[in-house]
Amino acid sequence: MFTEMDFTGTYLPQGLFVCFEGGEGSGKSTQSRLLAERLESLGHVVRLTFEPGDTRVGAELRRIVLSPETGQLSDRTEVLLYAADKAEHVDTVVVPALERGEVVITDRYVDTTLAYQGAGRGLAIGEVEEVARWATGDLRPHLTVVLDVDPRDGLGRFEGRDRIEAESLDFHQRARQSFLDLAAADPDHYLVLDARADRDELAARILERVTPLLARATAAAEARG
Ligand SMILES: Nc1ncnc2c1ncn2[C@@H]1O[C@H](COP(=O)(O)OP(=O)(O)O)[C@@H](O)[C@H]1O
Ligand SMILES: [Mg+2]
Repeated sequence: MFTEMDFTGTYLPQGLFVCFEGGEGSGKSTQSRLLAERLESLGHVVRLTFEPGDTRVGAELRRIVLSPETGQLSDRTEVLLYAADKAEHVDTVVVPALERGEVVITDRYVDTTLAYQGAGRGLAIGEVEEVARWATGDLRPHLTVVLDVDPRDGLGRFEGRDRIEAESLDFHQRARQSFLDLAAADPDHYLVLDARADRDELAARILERVTPLLARATAAAEARG
């Protein structure tokens, strides 16, 4: 029978796992890159990565889930394809880097699938979560930065639409609310910022929140000289 799993979260003792979440055009790629550059300049070993698609198999899964050529997909198929990407990403990229004591910065992670496939597509969030947590071994970021943006602003920041970006405004509004709800439920592990602020101000506020967490990652950087 289908019994709810107890998701308490696994936080690795080594390394620092930082995640960027938020709507389309909210500045995730911009801020994850700025944070990676800043931490590298401070001497940390940083693995900047993203979902979906930053593994060999993941790149193929990304093409399927995002290419407009794919057309209609069953909602459950979509959940499973994203979950497969996550499983591959966590096993082959995220966990090995964290175990080496590195800083892993990911542009999107589990919250994206909860927001888009759960709240957006209207699937039961608990079920989507079960799949996503199983796929990732319930590995959690030490910090998730949510860049909160009104979808009308975010989608207006760029042109061209993949399968998800092309979804309705209503879909994106539900996803936005879902990111905020996830953050509100666990403030110790989240930082929510208004994505309309200028990028240097956002970068400074993110660095301020990340700085006290860095102690856990310095050992490896020092060990490597
Ligand atoms: N704080 C900001 N204010 C205004 N525009 C921004 C800001 N951050 C990023 N942008 C611009 O918005 C667009 C989307 O940013 P991006 O980082 O690609 O967002 P995401 O990865 O969340 O989709 C890019 O053209 C980027 O240069
Ligand atoms: Mg991006």
